[in-house]
Amino acid sequence: MSKKHVVTLTRRWPGEVEAHLAELYDVHLNGDDHPLSVAELQGALAESDALCPTVSDRIDAEVLETESCRARILGNFGVGFNHIDLKATRRRELVVTNTPEVLTDCTADLAMALLLAAARRLGEGERCLRAGQWGGWRPTHMLATRVSGKTLGLVGFGRIARAVARRAHHGFGMRILFHDPQSPSPEAMAEVQAEARDSLETLLAEADFVSLHCPGGKQTRHLMNADRLNHMQRGAFLINTARGDVVDEAALVEVLRKGHLAGAGLDVYEQEPRVHPELVHMEQVLLAPHLGSASRETRVAMGMRVLSNLQAFFEGRPPPDRVA
Ligand code: DGY
Repeated sequence: MSKKHVVTLTRRWPGEVEAHLAELYDVHLNGDDHPLSVAELQGALAESDALCPTVSDRIDAEVLETESCRARILGNFGVGFNHIDLKATRRRELVVTNTPEVLTDCTADLAMALLLAAARRLGEGERCLRAGQWGGWRPTHMLATRVSGKTLGLVGFGRIARAVARRAHHGFGMRILFHDPQSPSPEAMAEVQAEARDSLETLLAEADFVSLHCPGGKQTRHLMNADRLNHMQRGAFLINTARGDVVDEAALVEVLRKGHLAGAGLDVYEQEPRVHPELVHMEQVLLAPHLGSASRETRVAMGMRVLSNLQAFFEGRPPPDRVA
């Protein structure tokens, strides 16, 4: 029997996917699920045929300029790949794959959950109740912001943004605006009666809620800077389930502090797992620990998607989700 390919997972994956992988490959697991150091990532590259990282691993030029690299493929567990330096992977002739589609619905669900919870002050309400401070119903208690019928501005109009738009438009009667440098199909726009805005600033000025759905990376770093945050309507909300560094967190703290924005719902942060200390104390901000794709069903589907990319690669077929 031919020797099995060695596959290293940088973090623990759902048990059934690890078991499935172990039937096919010689799988190296990270027993205690700690974030791997540069040296550990380099060790894994040296001893594996495939390395399977996640968003919590920085696969940068330093890691990839290691002396010995046996790996030929990086099977990323996740759709976003801005934590992988693609110039450096090309120099090493490494194939890179991701896991699109399978996490679209769950991430869109979470964006809506953050939007609803921030607008209706759910975090604050729950904290008040748990602290025993609820004095009973009264007409002026915790008045919040209505969601139904409002305008949602989507920054980016890819798969996840369109799934958010469907929920917001068909579920909550919201008007949908979007800004995306790439024109979507007329069908995608018609499905949610979406209106394009050529400039981001125009979109920001018109929307009651702004939800970010652009990729991370150098080009979108601090896209939402102080200037653009101030372009948002007074009393609007910012929702981020994309990447943390798309928002200048210090500038966001400032617009929230001065009351220009009514609130925010955040799932991602500039320096995960560190969260800007002032955000942590702001009642009007909903903070989730990067949970976009975190349903059992979706995480299993993501793992299975990595597996089908690895299978294709090792059988000499093009991996279905190759990004580089
Ligand atoms: C991704 O897939 O890029 C998410 O951020 C983690 O699910």
